[in-house]
Amino acid sequence: MSKLQPFRVYNPEHPNLPTKIFGGKASGIRDYDNIKYPILLQYNKDLFGEYWIEDEVKLGKDIEEYKNKLTESERKVFNYVTGSLNWLDSIASDFNAVLLLATSDPSLRSVIALILSFEVLHNRSYQYLTSTMLNDLEKKEAFEKVRHLPLLVERNNLIIPKIDKMIKVFAEYILSSMLGKPKEIDDYFLQTAFEGIIAYQALEGLFFSGGFVYFHSLARDNKMLESNSLINMIKTDENQHSEIFGLIVQMLMSEFPQLNTQENMDYAMNFFRQCVEAEKKWSAWLFKDIDTLSIKEYHDYVEYLANLLCRNAGMNEPYPENKELKSRWIATYGSKKRSKDKDQIVSRTDFLQANSINYTHEGGEDFDL
Ligand SMILES: [Fe+2]
Ligand SMILES: [Fe+2]
Repeated sequence: MSKLQPFRVYNPEHPNLPTKIFGGKASGIRDYDNIKYPILLQYNKDLFGEYWIEDEVKLGKDIEEYKNKLTESERKVFNYVTGSLNWLDSIASDFNAVLLLATSDPSLRSVIALILSFEVLHNRSYQYLTSTMLNDLEKKEAFEKVRHLPLLVERNNLIIPKIDKMIKVFAEYILSSMLGKPKEIDDYFLQTAFEGIIAYQALEGLFFSGGFVYFHSLARDNKMLESNSLINMIKTDENQHSEIFGLIVQMLMSEFPQLNTQENMDYAMNFFRQCVEAEKKWSAWLFKDIDTLSIKEYHDYVEYLANLLCRNAGMNEPYPENKELKSRWIATYGSKKRSKDKDQIVSRTDFLQANSINYTHEGGEDFDL
């Protein structure tokens, strides 16, 4: 087992070519012609290519519509959904900040740094979205009351302890290394990293994307189009992140074959199924008074997302009956547009479908690498 060498600005004894994503050797010099995973350079470029700021989207029309066009139930769900998305993005910011210091591959560190910057932007966007149209009471609904909604708490509590545990284990290794007494990378570290990253995948690829559909459904009903544009900017980023974290799971499996077991495969599949069930329960309650989308089609979409998430991580699809996106309007109203005419919704192939890594899993016994 190797000593962990997390973030160091420069390590003269180590090669420029990184050896592993955790506990590996790397000088810290980025030579993009000499990186272990060339796809990370592409992701680095792709992430940069999506940069935007919240001010690009003007919300003047939506401020009126929030007051005059939405029903009381729709306003309440708008507040809850916005607050719940912001909660996830707050976790995402801190998760990536710690992961950035823990990984020993500098090119991955740079990609994580970019992801982190987007999470910061997303938090700012939810602030922009709410401070422009919500009064104090409604703002409290989004940022305070949402923290105590039982089914949302139940859902988030599936992932938060796993992520917290990972952060604690990472922090111990980072600090010990920075203080000059690096600890050994052991199976406990690796297992905790695996479970933390799987939990984070549920956050990126399931809990987020699900919440966005509400905004698409309002847009389909010709309401809150500007907010939906903002949400689609965020959604495109989260889709990229979800794909990258699927790749990170595959890196983990290939670099540390002791993780690539039937037990871990079963663990991940069961975990994602639990997350799907929790998302269904929360959304059935959340959308009970909403007419712009049906709970059944939303639930189908959640299963579709779980399949995608598993495919990206090289796993079997847990919901074979939802391999394809059934509600095409989610793609129509759920894709980013950079058109000058901000009111025009441009239909595009769903990014999720177009860019997923399509795995056909042969034996069903381990992660497909
Ligand atoms: Fe985000
Ligand atoms: Fe993200």
